[in-house]
Amino acid sequence: MLNPQLNKNGELQHLLTIEGLPKKIVTHILDTASSFVGISDRDVKKVPLMRGKSVFNLFFENSTRTRTTFEIASKRLSADVINLNISASSASKGESLLDTIDNLSAMHADMFIVRHSQSGAPYLIAKHLRDTGQSHVHVVNAGDGRHAHPTQGLLDMYTIRHYKKDFTNLTVAIVGDILHSRVARSDIHALTTLGVPEVRAIGPRTLLPSGLEQMGVRVFTDINEGLKGVDVIIMLRVQNERMSGTLLPSAQEFFKSYGLTTERLALAKPDAIVMHPGPMNRGVEIESAVADGTQAVILPQVTFGIAVRMAVMSILAGN
Ligand code: CP
Repeated sequence: MLNPQLNKNGELQHLLTIEGLPKKIVTHILDTASSFVGISDRDVKKVPLMRGKSVFNLFFENSTRTRTTFEIASKRLSADVINLNISASSASKGESLLDTIDNLSAMHADMFIVRHSQSGAPYLIAKHLRDTGQSHVHVVNAGDGRHAHPTQGLLDMYTIRHYKKDFTNLTVAIVGDILHSRVARSDIHALTTLGVPEVRAIGPRTLLPSGLEQMGVRVFTDINEGLKGVDVIIMLRVQNERMSGTLLPSAQEFFKSYGLTTERLALAKPDAIVMHPGPMNRGVEIESAVADGTQAVILPQVTFGIAVRMAVMSILAGN
């Protein structure tokens, strides 16, 4: 079966997920991002790679980092960027997602950046564009339900490569609410694609999805065991808005059992880095002293996100 995000020449047509993405493409995105990192330090922060192109930011779910860095990335590539205000759009009057897409396509959109609470929404849009003869329009998944957040996965890989250089000798721990996390899924696919020999998932049984072992992941319910000797710790937000029922006793209990504290961080390698996709719940999954400490690379992740999103967009646009 054809990969829905690749064209018939095997080139990136849409970015919907990291699952099944060839290593060559993942590495090409990271290498292209490297060439954009220095642009922020220049007097002129723009390159003309997407001059004349229209990028539509469609965020049906809230965002600070992803939406803003996509906007900055679009502007640095000289694209025209349109941020649709969903709550003030006709979606609030009952217009369907695909009718919205058709109307924006009629305004000559070149790229849609889509965040949606429903898993699969960006796939639906990509399929609709193909079925209506608009395959020249590109779709980037900016996070769909609990399914995937591919640009977060890529910026996480960029961050790990920046600090650790080589993926093939690392142990990476992903900690917390893995069940509801699209970031965890994208990170696991990216880490295994790039050859990380040991990926660990750490969390309470109620927040660990089935099938992790089949994805090549070692599962730990004891954080003190799981953090021993790791090079990279990726903390996840406890996603109360995606939980139904009582999967957790309380935020305080979660912190006691799974929060990343200074004492627990000491179980990892001395040069381990601490990552978090944001937004953080301080005192729930991470102690402030760790979040603001010398091993945290949480804000550099955000900065690298601009270059990584520039890379994704410029590659999709044919550069
Ligand atoms: N990491 C992330 O997706 O953050 P936002 O929800 O702020 O975009």
